[in-house]
Amino acid sequence: MILLDGKLLAKKQEEKMIKVVEELYKKNIIPTLAVILVGDDAASASYVNMKTKASHRIGIDSITRTYHKNITENQLLEAIYKFNHDEDVDGILVQLPLPSHINTQRILEAIDPLKDVDGFHPYNVGRMYAGLNGFLPATPMGVMELLKFYDIEVLGKNVVIVGASNIVGKPLAALMLQSGATISLCHIHTKDISLYTKQADILCVGVGKPSLITKDMVKEGVVIVDIGINRLEDGRIVGDVDSDVVEKSSYFTPVPGGVGPMTIASLMQNTIIAAKNRKEK
Ligand code: GUN
Repeated sequence: MILLDGKLLAKKQEEKMIKVVEELYKKNIIPTLAVILVGDDAASASYVNMKTKASHRIGIDSITRTYHKNITENQLLEAIYKFNHDEDVDGILVQLPLPSHINTQRILEAIDPLKDVDGFHPYNVGRMYAGLNGFLPATPMGVMELLKFYDIEVLGKNVVIVGASNIVGKPLAALMLQSGATISLCHIHTKDISLYTKQADILCVGVGKPSLITKDMVKEGVVIVDIGINRLEDGRIVGDVDSDVVEKSSYFTPVPGGVGPMTIASLMQNTIIAAKNRKEK
């Protein structure tokens, strides 16, 4: 069994990005990421913190706006419009989830698609589904890069994805399909997910439920991509896949240290691309 070391690949990518950003500085281009965080969710605050820290390691400037959970939708839209029109800002990221009184889709659609480094705007979603270039969502992009780094062929494989969120499952299915996989996308209404997971050459799970996938649900030699991040009561961080599934798998992403660091690295890559697209010439 080989560990898919996202921490290692993210570090390698960071080293490359540092050099690219140095070149941009010589042209007076400073890639800049604006991050909007609403409310006091500890996990969200921690993700935002990791994103800004990564930015600074690479030389990407970051602006973080933190708002009280009672902010109105219109106030949030105003904040986005400001960043849309700020010539210095290359990328805009609204950390999800937003409080329930805010229409998330309306917020995401307010972001200038050319600054939409999360790839959540329908403009970029549509381009991704059509196989056109545009911003890819960070987690699915990170998963694809991790598989590529380890020379794991996707073409012609049975890829089973559990969890059909807009952030992970749906876009990952689109990218896998684009790479020639046969995809099964399982979700909350799937009657028996083991029917599908047993067929998987590559099993990607992003639900947020510890031990959702157990050893009896996979075949020998499966590639496990665990996208879940769960904090147990004892403080341990685990994914959605039971640890003893390792015994049956050929490749396995650790949690933490697998997909998580790749998500952040991909966001950084998107921010640099946005800066190049907007400011280079
Ligand atoms: N919440 C969980 N994952 C993500 C992500 O990739 N981007 C943003 N903005 N929020 C998230």
